[in-house]
Amino acid sequence: MQVHVFGGADEAARAVAMVIASEILKKPDAVLGLATGSTPVPVYRALIEMGRQGLIDFSRVRTFNLDEYVGLSPDHPQSYRRFMNEQLFDHININKANTRVPSGVAADLRAEAAAYDRAIEAAGGIDLQLLGIGVNGHIGFNEPASAFPHATHVVDIAPSTVQANARFFDNADEVPRRAVTLGIGGIMAARRVVLLAVGRGKAPVIQKTVAGDATPDVPASILRFHPNAQLFLDREAAGLL
Ligand code: F6R
Repeated sequence: MQVHVFGGADEAARAVAMVIASEILKKPDAVLGLATGSTPVPVYRALIEMGRQGLIDFSRVRTFNLDEYVGLSPDHPQSYRRFMNEQLFDHININKANTRVPSGVAADLRAEAAAYDRAIEAAGGIDLQLLGIGVNGHIGFNEPASAFPHATHVVDIAPSTVQANARFFDNADEVPRRAVTLGIGGIMAARRVVLLAVGRGKAPVIQKTVAGDATPDVPASILRFHPNAQLFLDREAAGLL
């Protein structure tokens, strides 16, 4: 696992956007694994700008998002499908039919999860997986657990994540308690993984991810075993390394 430290959060986000852009330039029909949350927003902003300037063509790019809240329909203001449309897809020349977010409202969520993994496989696998990290070490919604879950699955969201995500809702009671998430196996199968973390709030978990035990109690720590994983950090997130 390589660690790149940047002076500021914007610089780190721009560097991640450049990595994604070069992947698309190299492979115009690249399969990108995408994340939501606050961290990737400046990355998406930079990609939108590159698209506007004609530097990247997204028309053949395919995407799979990491996760979705169970019970939120695609048009719910806090659904991850809506987030992706608003933060990225509505502003670039991507074919929306080639953008996938797991459904949180499928009648059979297990079947939906299995179909999601099959769709990723049919697309040839993920070329580049973008990740954020939760303060408890989660990646996607793979929360601290006693084992690393392999496939896409339905998960109970940890209380600490409910608290962390309450800022996006009117109050913590409104945060869904379950999600559909790509498993750790799905993330590890990506050919390249880029994790972006900024701010001092992430410093303790980055320290555990990089230098603590590799354990399912800190799900991101498994990235140490990925052959092509990079952490992009600002100085604050790297503050305890
Ligand atoms: C979102 C996701 C989560 C976030 C993590 C960090 O799709 O998979 O793992 O990346 O919760 O969220 P922020 O960026 O809001 O700190």
